[in-house]
Amino acid sequence: MGKKIGILTGGGDCPGLNAVIRAVVKCAVIRYGWQVIGIEDGFDGLLDLSKCKPLTLESVRGILPRGGTILGTTNHGNPFCYPVERDGSIVHADYSDRVIDNLRSLGIEALIAVGGEGSLKIALDLSKKGIAVVGVPKTIDNDLQETDFTFGYNTALETATDALDKLHSTAESHHRVMILEVMGRYAGWIALESGIAGGADVILIPEIPYQAECICTSIKKRSARGSRFSIIVVAEGAYPAGGSRVVAKKGDNGSTIERLGGIGHFVAQQIEQCLDMDVRVTVLGHLQRGGSPTTFDRALASRFGATAVQMIAKEQFGQMACLRGRSIIAVPIENATRDLKLVDPDGEIVRTALDLGITLGR
Ligand code: F6P
Repeated sequence: MGKKIGILTGGGDCPGLNAVIRAVVKCAVIRYGWQVIGIEDGFDGLLDLSKCKPLTLESVRGILPRGGTILGTTNHGNPFCYPVERDGSIVHADYSDRVIDNLRSLGIEALIAVGGEGSLKIALDLSKKGIAVVGVPKTIDNDLQETDFTFGYNTALETATDALDKLHSTAESHHRVMILEVMGRYAGWIALESGIAGGADVILIPEIPYQAECICTSIKKRSARGSRFSIIVVAEGAYPAGGSRVVAKKGDNGSTIERLGGIGHFVAQQIEQCLDMDVRVTVLGHLQRGGSPTTFDRALASRFGATAVQMIAKEQFGQMACLRGRSIIAVPIENATRDLKLVDPDGEIVRTALDLGITLGR
């Protein structure tokens, strides 16, 4: 009898998740003759057996170019700290033993957890309790250590760069300052790389707290050179030096994740206070998480999926597939989740931006 393995997708979705699911099922069935159980809605699905269903070659047919995840996901519901209502108020319970019992009753011998930092930390905690877990890194934020890239990031970059191309023409026609707020949580990767690729004049990232005067000086200098418009990319986690992040919503119901957003409008107000120019703000939001994955993300996600199955065959548990240079290797999940991979404020990409005359707000 072949093995039975499980797969779940946790945290915020991103393009390429379906490509991983497809690769896992294909590799498990075709190469090893194993059965795959798809677990719906992240770790929540392991608390409800009706959410655990077999995945076959038929069920993954045609999903490669589709955004989202056929398994569903959630960025709430950590089984180690699960929100439950008791006597009218929310308390947190440890349901991890129930997860383990359910995995055993389903006969799942190994679990592939596809997720970002939060989901991989849960996977690591399960592995510490004896569950055979393999991780696959995903997030548009590209903020996971150990892997050069997460899948989803490249597609998000394309979306942000496309938005910048479109904002250019209208900014130029109306002689306006156009601000594009992009995602990325506490990391500035999306803002920095899309800003360079999209020809931004100012890029604001969390790793470099900005000074509003620098932004205004840059816009004035451009005007003096005859460019009567400016394009600013601001990461949702950026904040002014000496100030704090703009939080749209604090974490609640067991989620420690605060929702960021609103810095674009704050920067607009600061610019309007020092310059007599029309300023408009576009918040790109979840468009960055949707749509069909790029070729790069499809290929990377497929490689991660097949590697995860091979890692199970080699019993490389508690480890995560990652991209190093041109190779996919296995690394301990612990190393990948210890801290976030942030932009080096003095690194090559930042220096390139400065060399191109881009203002980074300092
Ligand atoms: O981590 C991915 C991400 O899209 C972040 O860039 C963003 O801050 C967050 O998720 C948004 O989460 P939600 O979908 O819960 O609004």
